[in-house]
Amino acid sequence: MARIVAGLATSHVPAIGIAMDQGKTGEPYWKPLFDGYDPARKWLAKLDPDLIVLVYNDHGSAFSLEVIPTFAIGVAEKFLPADEGWGPRPVPVVNGDPKFAWHLAESLILDEFDMTIVNDMTVDHGLTVPLSIVCGQPEKWPCPVIPLSVNVVQYPPPTGKRCFDLGRAIRKAVKRYDDDLRVLILGTGGMSHQLHGERAGLINSEFDKSFLDDLSRQPQRLVDLPHIEYVREAGAEGIELVMWLVMRGALDDDVTEIYQHYHVPASNTATGLLILENLTE
Ligand code: DHB
Ligand code: FE
Repeated sequence: MARIVAGLATSHVPAIGIAMDQGKTGEPYWKPLFDGYDPARKWLAKLDPDLIVLVYNDHGSAFSLEVIPTFAIGVAEKFLPADEGWGPRPVPVVNGDPKFAWHLAESLILDEFDMTIVNDMTVDHGLTVPLSIVCGQPEKWPCPVIPLSVNVVQYPPPTGKRCFDLGRAIRKAVKRYDDDLRVLILGTGGMSHQLHGERAGLINSEFDKSFLDDLSRQPQRLVDLPHIEYVREAGAEGIELVMWLVMRGALDDDVTEIYQHYHVPASNTATGLLILENLTE
């Protein structure tokens, strides 16, 4: 039987990927951020999962304003890094796992989550930057990755509760899979940031820090948080944080908090990283 052993959530700021690709991680601006990623990389190497379900949002790369799936799952053999305007990132191709992905799609849809099934797509910084953050710069990513995208780009995004419930359904689907896989679920996006308009540059560390704490210990408070509260407190793009709730919903009620890292600034955002493990391996 497959099982989810742990969850990790992290920001996906494109400039973090660029800093790595251009060898700038030791510069004074970036060093404190990247120093904080070392324990996460060591933890992941030790965990050595068989598969990652990576919950992220596409930023108009694979999808556009012409087609906006609320929830989509990539079932392809592989996903190439997207060209976001300055050429594709020099990172490995993302290998999927069609057998597992189709199982996940079937289980979720029969569980009444109407996933869009994607046979062919590229993956942008929303997916590749988190992999770079937790894996560094390997020749190949350490295991297959199932891309699961959530619309947080065009109003209306799904509610936090819907995202948490999707996590619950992912947990059920993983348990129903016969192969003996240890699965890591990754949630991405956030933390507080606003990229445009009068409040561009908004950062709210108090909100972010209580989000990190509550996600471990009392996720129910966040499940019930309305969209307007994210936008008011964490900025328009802070809504990306609903994707962290998919990760949390896929874990048990009680978890062990392994690691937390929070740093301001990285580009226009406050960055966070949180690692949670299920108590029963
Ligand atoms: C930035 C952050 C994001 O989450 C994103 O998707 C794009 C840009 C930024 O801070 O620059
Ligand atoms: Fe983003």
